[in-house]
Amino acid sequence: MSMMSIRAATPRDREAIRLVEEHAFGQQAEAGLVDALVSGGDAVVELVAEEDGQVVGHILFSRLFVQNGGNSFPAVALAPLAVEPSFHGTGIGGALVREAHIRLKDAGEVLAVVLGDPAYYGRFGYSHARAEKFESEFQGEALQALAWGEAPETGKLVYASAFGTALAA
Ligand SMILES: CC(C)(COP(=O)(O)OP(=O)(O)OC[C@H]1O[C@@H](n2cnc3c(N)ncnc32)[C@H](O)[C@@H]1OP(=O)(O)O)[C@@H](O)C(=O)NCCC(=O)NCCS
Repeated sequence: MSMMSIRAATPRDREAIRLVEEHAFGQQAEAGLVDALVSGGDAVVELVAEEDGQVVGHILFSRLFVQNGGNSFPAVALAPLAVEPSFHGTGIGGALVREAHIRLKDAGEVLAVVLGDPAYYGRFGYSHARAEKFESEFQGEALQALAWGEAPETGKLVYASAFGTALAA
């Protein structure tokens, strides 16, 4: 019987994470984004899912700020989330999101945003309604937010600098 477990990513996981990201997205941009976020010190929660000792899933939340006038509120951005294609649909993606949320809440985080399919992220509590007043170059139905406590509903979303460089490639 296979055993799936989730744990914090360590420096020794970098190559395995890169492969999972490349396989899931079929390109290198997301793997490059992960490396840039981690090396830039912007990772807040990063987890891997293992099946029988092999890394088959990965999730990263990075620091994002909501700027309102002179205030800068710390939040997190979910990106990327990747599961090895042969393991899709077995609950690994969902388990990674839920475990990361628990750790984020424990760490005192109160607001997360994601850019993705509402049909997928809605099941975890994300909604476009919670994000629609934010100012963002990514504003649209795919921009969703989830708040666990008091957090701004307006303001400009300022992502880690890696988003500007890695995804422009
Ligand atoms: C998205 C992804 C991480 C989901 O991982 P997973 O382990 O297959 O997900 P789970 O097993 O927890 O959930 C599967 C469910 O999600 C649904 N789902 C998967 N990808 C989806 C998508 N892009 N849009 C809508 N629903 C999606 C499946 O249909 C399935 O639905 P069901 O529970 O109603 O049957 C995985 O498919 C993946 O790595 N995709 C490629 C990379 C990617 O698109 N990442 C997200 C970018 S924002």
